Amino acid sequence: MADPSTLQDFLAAHLRAHPNDEQLLALISDVAVACEKLADLVRLGELAGVLGAAGQENVQGEQQKKLDIIANDVFIECTEHTGRVAGLASEEMDNHYPISDGSPRGRYLLTFDPLDGSSNIDVNGATGTIFSIIEHVTSAAPTDEDFLQSGAKQVCAGYCLYSSASMLVITLGDGVAGFTFNHHEGVFVLTHPNMQVPEATNEFAINAAYSEHWQAPVKRYISECVAGKDGPLGKSFNMRWAGSMVGDIHRILCRGGIFMYPLDARMMADGKQGKLRLLYEANPMGMLIEQAGGVAHTGTSPILSIEPEQLHQRVPVIMGSREEVDRVVSYHASL
Ligand code: AHG
Ligand code: MN
Ligand code: MN
Repeated sequence: MADPSTLQDFLAAHLRAHPNDEQLLALISDVAVACEKLADLVRLGELAGVLGAAGQENVQGEQQKKLDIIANDVFIECTEHTGRVAGLASEEMDNHYPISDGSPRGRYLLTFDPLDGSSNIDVNGATGTIFSIIEHVTSAAPTDEDFLQSGAKQVCAGYCLYSSASMLVITLGDGVAGFTFNHHEGVFVLTHPNMQVPEATNEFAINAAYSEHWQAPVKRYISECVAGKDGPLGKSFNMRWAGSMVGDIHRILCRGGIFMYPLDARMMADGKQGKLRLLYEANPMGMLIEQAGGVAHTGTSPILSIEPEQLHQRVPVIMGSREEVDRVVSYHASL
């Protein structure tokens, strides 16, 4: 049989090997439809009236953009009534979203960051959607607590990048596949089979404007990167910061790198454990990175091993090419 060439071919091939995954694969199709709608809206930008602020805050005290709310609504519309999800949770909703009365409940819980990189929306920069799927283990209506499962339990994770091209990148636990959206034909085409993160890299991604607040292991590591080939690491580095985790992680899945949003002194003073959220940012991106041969860590524990305590829990994030992530983790152990 020919290699699968579209997302639907890819899902059909997976179904032949895993017949019990029928509902999961249908849910991934629903998610892809939501991403297609968002890719079209993002591409139209101001022409679709989607730029600008919404004039309200989310539960995390962040100013919402119009597109944060539109993206959240599109995801609900595309998944709520299909009978594949038991409940939804997202960055933009205080608590989980129960499926409406009368709609059949499915086997899965879908958690998502509807629009990642919100500060890039109005400047036509890269944005994305991140999603994570876990099983709902009982037949009862889910509670917030049912969503608190470790990243190791994810049955699927992925993102859609809205950039010069829109790309859906997914893992079902057996590698990572990337699909490019053909806007003319409305189809995701498999363009990046078996994405791999190279073990070695000389590219780092961190918001260096916060360097005065970093903890000692991160200060040490970045100063060594910046010291270049005459420094202790013996090589010159390049730096990138997309302002969107999807943009940065996509680059790392394409050519390697290390991405860091570490715990810093400001967060600790505010009683926060990081900026990025475990359930719909760190866990799905961590699964993708590890499925592509990289490492996802907080500095003190593997991200996928964390037992979540809250829906919007934040964690420090250090992920990407194995050699450099291992180095930063070793600095956390020794400093
Ligand atoms: P979101 O737009 O979903 O709130 O996430 C933004 C995140 C992440 O995408 C990005 O890496 C980071 O915040 C950027 O933060 P800074 O503006 O502090 O650099
Ligand atoms: Mn985000
Ligand atoms: Mn977001």
